[in-house]
Amino acid sequence: MSGTMIDPELEARLAALRTEGWALFERFDQEVRDQRWHPFVAANYESVLETLVALRAPGLRFLEWGSATGVITIMADLLGYEAYGIELDGSLVRTAQALAEQFDSKARFVEGSFLPEGYQWTPRDGDGRLGTIGSGRSGYLALGKSLDEFDVVFGYPWDGEGAMMHDLMRRYGAPGARLLVHGTDTGMEVYRDGRKLD
Ligand SMILES: C[S@@+](CC[C@H](N)C(=O)[O-])C[C@H]1O[C@@H](n2cnc3c(N)ncnc32)[C@H](O)[C@@H]1O
Repeated sequence: MSGTMIDPELEARLAALRTEGWALFERFDQEVRDQRWHPFVAANYESVLETLVALRAPGLRFLEWGSATGVITIMADLLGYEAYGIELDGSLVRTAQALAEQFDSKARFVEGSFLPEGYQWTPRDGDGRLGTIGSGRSGYLALGKSLDEFDVVFGYPWDGEGAMMHDLMRRYGAPGARLLVHGTDTGMEVYRDGRKLD
């Protein structure tokens, strides 16, 4: 795993977490997404894990934008990050909190929007529609932390919505913080100060 070892006990916990995560997503797909459109689609947990393992270091604070069932934030917590998730859908937040308890994780989840209060997306082409990204009270207030207090931020944007995530990091993120972007076709990409890292 990128030359970085995980001890077998932790490896087993992480595998069990992914299995539970996929079961939750399948249930969500049948019970919610089959009835109406919902923006939650699960990332490739294996490739997110690989990136989190490669970047981990003592004392790093992690934030997941749109944390859904919480699998990725809990993964980050089990790997030693101080991990937080913000999710707009309150019922998903409760699922994530129950999953954290099940895995004896200190990951923290709040209901709200990952957009800072007052943020407006104003791209050069003038089309500031947010697409599948919803709006609501900013989650940073409930977290008691602002975006510039996080070292590693993860987002899984729908097609065409990644630019807004880069804009958020540029305007509100800490200098040197990493933005991890999961793309459906592109896999995991890691950015620092707007530049893609190899
Ligand atoms: C594509 S899913 C990704 C889920 C999870 N992060 C993963 O990668 O498996 C996007 C998630 O973001 C949530 N979401 C959409 N707009 C949001 C917003 N403004 N603030 C917080 N969460 C939001 C959706 O409810 C959905 O759960």
